Amino acid sequence: MTLTAWVNGRFLPLDEATVHIEDRGFQFADGVYEVIACFGGTFLDLDAHLDRLLRSCENIAINMPVPLHELKTLIEQTYRHNPFEDAMIYVQITRGAAPRSHLAQRELTPTMVITSRELPMPSAESISDGVSAITLDDMRWKRCDIKSIALLASVIGKQEAAFRGADETFWLDEQQHVLEGCATNCFAAIRGALVTHPLDHQVLGGITRNMVLRIARAHDITVEERPWKLTETGLTECMMSSTTNAIMPVCHINGENIGTGKPGPMAIQLRGWMLDEFEKLKKTS
Ligand SMILES: Cc1ncc(COP(=O)(O)O)c(C=O)c1O
Repeated sequence: MTLTAWVNGRFLPLDEATVHIEDRGFQFADGVYEVIACFGGTFLDLDAHLDRLLRSCENIAINMPVPLHELKTLIEQTYRHNPFEDAMIYVQITRGAAPRSHLAQRELTPTMVITSRELPMPSAESISDGVSAITLDDMRWKRCDIKSIALLASVIGKQEAAFRGADETFWLDEQQHVLEGCATNCFAAIRGALVTHPLDHQVLGGITRNMVLRIARAHDITVEERPWKLTETGLTECMMSSTTNAIMPVCHINGENIGTGKPGPMAIQLRGWMLDEFEKLKKTS
């Protein structure tokens, strides 16, 4: 199937969907993005994704190219042009195209691109055996709460993880606290509680993170949003969450087993409850 993308006001086949070489996204990574999952035609937490997109734009003073209700319609239309059962919608907004100068010389028309593809599913093996991670000192900027397209550190983190045969890199702060992954939020089960770094400038407020915490609380799992370390006594499980992973058990870090080295009960339960919610979404469509 030829994919269709929405680019600056037009639906085009993906091969013909291009932006200007002086786009500030290309020149400076001067832009923001969102990734939204769609199950059986129903978008997961669309309003939360659009709120975060709006906040990301506001934080770097880019005007939303269209009002939110129009953006919703465009997202739905893009999905209908590429109607996968389970889809992943990508929205990218940059400041626009202009002769290269760090300071934009005038108010620009933002560039907006929307694509819809098949939602990549984690392999059966990673679900049954869990995945692995390495840790690296955080080398990113100090506004990780903005969903910026400047992802060079994440690319390096992913490359280093792959080079060492792992799936993800967990970033550590100077005191060795686990902040988040290159493209995931991180969690630990510590003495029966679900622990994750609090929301601040060092982590992205993942939409899936919110869902995980909401579901955990609804099932009477104690949630602690606080800095945590891999060396903490009583740590039995690690997990990571994202739109494309839901929640994933992380069973090996830096080559060492976490807990038993197999997915633990909290990760299995949380994943099951999340998948139940995805199934319910499919039934509403
Ligand atoms: C750095 C980072 N943290 C967390 C996440 C997870 O966010 P979400 O659950 O909204 O997909 C992402 C997703 O791309 C990310 O890039």
